[in-house]
Order: sequence, then structure tokens, then C-alpha cells
Amino acid sequence: MQTSIRSRLQHGVMHLEAAFDVPFGASWNPLRQMGTLTFFYFWIVAVTGIYVYILFDTTVGGAYRSVEEMTNQQWYLGGIMRSIHRYASDAMVVTMVLHLSREFIMDRYRDVRWFTWFTGTPLIWFLFISGISGYWLVWDELAQYVAIGSMEWLDWLGIFGEPVANNFLDPGSLTDRFFTLLVFMHIFAPLFLLFIMWIHVMRVTQPKVNPPRGLAIGSLAMFVVLALIKPAVSHAPADLAMTPTTLNLDWFYMMLYPAFDTLGAGTLWVLAVGLSCIVCAMPWIPPLKRPRPAEVDLTKCNGCTRCFTDCPFGAVTMQPRSDGAAFDREAVVDPDMCTGCGICVGSCPVSTPFRHDEELMTGIDLPDFDLTLIRKKTLKAAEKAGPNGVLVFGCDYGADVKSLKDDGIGTLSLPCIGMLPPSFIDFSISRAGVAGVMISGCKECDCFSRLGNRWTQERIAGVRDPYLRKRVDRARITEFWGARIDADALADAVREFRATLGDTADDEEDVA
Ligand code: HEM
Ligand code: SF4
Ligand code: SF4
Repeated sequence: MQTSIRSRLQHGVMHLEAAFDVPFGASWNPLRQMGTLTFFYFWIVAVTGIYVYILFDTTVGGAYRSVEEMTNQQWYLGGIMRSIHRYASDAMVVTMVLHLSREFIMDRYRDVRWFTWFTGTPLIWFLFISGISGYWLVWDELAQYVAIGSMEWLDWLGIFGEPVANNFLDPGSLTDRFFTLLVFMHIFAPLFLLFIMWIHVMRVTQPKVNPPRGLAIGSLAMFVVLALIKPAVSHAPADLAMTPTTLNLDWFYMMLYPAFDTLGAGTLWVLAVGLSCIVCAMPWIPPLKRPRPAEVDLTKCNGCTRCFTDCPFGAVTMQPRSDGAAFDREAVVDPDMCTGCGICVGSCPVSTPFRHDEELMTGIDLPDFDLTLIRKKTLKAAEKAGPNGVLVFGCDYGADVKSLKDDGIGTLSLPCIGMLPPSFIDFSISRAGVAGVMISGCKECDCFSRLGNRWTQERIAGVRDPYLRKRVDRARITEFWGARIDADALADAVREFRATLGDTADDEEDVA
């Protein structure tokens, strides 16, 4: 039941992304860049925030006036900076919510990813604290409403000696000292946010924190245009003697404030803390599936470090040799960090099918899907494809290669296409005797195992070890990068590829 809801949601996401692929292309598709865009918007908010702070008067009496001056008298810079600061902060909420929803729907939050997911939860809190505390500083009617609401919410906890909301009881009660405290909160909350953002990606190998240049320039231009056509403005100045009646809320940050009036502080605390606990616990909610981790065979490991460099989850470390062999180091797998993607098997130089041994031994292997089994399945798939046929190596998370049922096609799906040592492509053509090999994996910028499709492309292009040998005729190899919904496109691509192979075979006969 749960799986079918998720798989429907996944199909929805994939179709939406496919629609965005048309104008943006796969690598610039913003829907696949939500985490990097949130990072980028943070930097925009930080830079514009520093400028706005320079023009800002931190006293109760001067705050509103200084914001009005930068908005109206220095509209061409101060005003634009203020507007960009606000719009980029709003955009952070949107991209963060889309980012976490996508990771959840696409099932990229369990197992070893728990840490990244778990540390995402405080990010939600700190982003909201940063944004809301920013609105206090304008010290207009909206600031008054939001500041009083926030303080009453805090007061419900009863942890402060005196209610903090008392600072807003009447016009004389708000002091410069307390106002400066509010300013500090707006400076420290984003600094904490940045710190947790760093922790968030700490366990991700080679984390992608910058969006493609086009998306970065495009969204910056979007904020500038927004700032020009709809500049951020203030409400009337705050007046603690009156209760504001008409307010334009920033719904990105303030959606809970109207609920505060109706539900009350206690219910909102229960909702906010309860939801956060549920989000934190998500990675451990069944169904939990975890393949057995990769295992190192020291008799085959020469300490070359390739598995260490290629593992997308930081599960491999290089440690001093423990078996007395004549190498400095050995690979060691941390089972708690290993997803069983098999990318390390594809990167190990010892992983080759060109041996007569019944059992293929390599430096690092998956106990549930080892190299011997891959060679066995490759030979079987090649037999099905036949001498004029195509062998399609695919990935469990990309377009489903098992759906290819035509004669002359053999298929083998792997936990990640990055698990395939390039020597298997050579082997399939030169030994197993197929006419061509298709390599298929997840869409660009969307590899389930993060780096598998990139490493595979680089290995085939000959720019990453272990690379595909030069002797392999490149006309007999093709690549297809698609999502699970792209099975029809994959079938078309195989048909087209086979047609080109027909020509190649004829050419070869002509030459002979
Ligand atoms: C300020 C807000 C956030 C920023 C800037 C941010 C940014 C990022 C970045 C840059 C990555 C690494 C992408 C990669 O290289 O694979 C990432 C991964 C991830 N994020 Fe966030 N994130 C934020 C909030 C959240 C939240 C609220 C959650 C969930 C509660 C979340 C869940 C995840 C997960 C599960 C991954 C791992 C994805 C994977 O390993 O494939 N993030 N995030
Ligand atoms: S199977 Fe994947 S996660 Fe595990 S060590 Fe190998 S590359 Fe790393
Ligand atoms: S890639 Fe293979 S040989 Fe190299 S360190 Fe890893 S297990 Fe050892």
C-alpha cells in the first residue's frame, strides 16, 4: 500500500521533471537542483543582508526610518538589495520544501542517508527562525504582530523568569537593549543555519553545493526583476498602543501565525515538535531494506585507492596494511555507511571477467551480487542476444531494461550502472560475441547512487580509471540515460542502435 502510493508519487515527480527537461535540459533542470539552489540562495541572502545591515539603524527609534530610507531614497541599490534579500529568503523556503519532498518521495533518505535527512530537520527550524527574526527588524506593524506572536509562543514554555512578551506591552516598554537582542538573533540564526548546512552535507562524498551556472545566473536575474517590478515595502510604523488590523503576511514564513490565534500556543508547540519528531524518525519507519555491505578481499587488494575515491557514500577508508603484504595500505569498508551500490566493484582494477577461473575474485565485492554472478548473467544475456544482438546493461533505478523483450536483446540490471567494470563491455563484444553493448543508467544529475552514472561516462570516455580499453570499437557501444518512466524511449534507442550495428556489420563484411 505504502509502496504503491510512493511509486505513484515517484511517477508524478518523474513526469514533472521530464516536462521541465524540455526547456531546461537534464543538467539544468531546477527540480533536480533544489538542494544546491537552497545553498545558493543562502549566499544571496547573506551578501544582500550584509549590505542592508550597513544601512540599518539598530535602535528602536531609528530602525523603521533607516529601512524606509534605503527603500525609497536609495531604491536603486539599498531598495533592490532589501527586495532581493526578502525574495531569496522566500525562495529558500520553497526550494527547501521541494528538496526534502523530493528526497522523501524518491526514497533517498533511509539507510546511510539517515544522517543527511536527520540533520535536515534542524535546518527547517533555523531557516524559519532566520526568516521570521528578519521581519522583526523593520519594526513596522507586521514586525509588531510577528514579534508579539513569537514571544507569546515562547512564553508558553515558561522557561523565562518573566514573560518576554512583556517587552511589547506598551510604547515605552521596548528598549534599545532588547531590540539589539532581536538584531543579534537575526545575525546568529543564519550563522547557525550555515553551520548546520555544513553538517548536513558533511557525510556526503563530493557534495554538490553549487547549482549549474545558468540556473544561478537565471535565478539571480529573476530576483532582480522581481525587486524592480515589486519592491519590498514596509507596513506603517509599529505602534504598541494599537493592535494592527490589516496586514500583508509573508505566507512563506508566517503561515502558522494565523493558526496561533485560533489554535493557541500549546497546540502549536505540540504540532511543531511532534511533526519534527516524525520527520526525524522517517528513515527508520519500515519498510527497511538494506543489502549486505561490500567486502574487501585482502588477497586481491593492492591498496590502489580507487574504491576509496569512487565510493559516493564515504564508506571506504584506506588504512595501514594489516596482512603483511608488500603494499602500504588496504581498503576497509564501514558497513554502517555502505549502501551496497557496487560502484567500488566497478572501480577496482582487479574486477575483470577475462579469467578462466570458475570463481572470479576481486579486491572488493558485493556478497549478494558478486562478480562471478555478473559474469554468469552477462554470458546468459549475451547468449539470448545472439551474435547480431545487443546486450543492455542497466540499473535498478533507471529505465527498466528487463522490459526489453525483443529478440536479439539480452539484458542485465545492476544495483547501479557504476558497478559495471568497463572490462565487461570489452568482454561482451570480444568474448561473449554480441554485436553491440548499450549502457543505461539514471538521468544526468539524478543517479540514485549519486555518482554512478558520472563515473561510468568518464570510464567509457577514457578519463577515469579503470577506463575502457582503446581497442574496443566505440561504434559498438552506446549510452542511454533515463528515468524509470523512460522504458519506451529506451526500447526506441535500442532499436535505433541495432539499426546502426547492421550497417557496421555490413561494412565489416565489405572490408573482408
Ligand atoms: C537549508 C536547507 C537545505 C539545504 C541548503 C540543503 C542542501 C543539500 C545539499 C547540497 C545536498 C547534497 C546533494 C548531493 O550532492 O547529493 C543535500 C542532500 C540531502 N538533503 Fe538537504 N538541504 C536542506 C534541507 C534539507 C531538509 C530539510 C531535509 C530533510 C529533512 C534534507 C534532506 C536531504 C537528504 C536526505 C539528502 C541526501 C540525498 C542523497 O544522498 O542523495 N535537506 N541537501
Ligand atoms: S558498495 Fe557503494 S557504498 Fe558500499 S563501499 Fe562500495 S561504493 Fe561505497
Ligand atoms: S579498488 Fe580494489 S585494489 Fe584498489 S584499494 Fe579498492 S579493493 Fe583494493
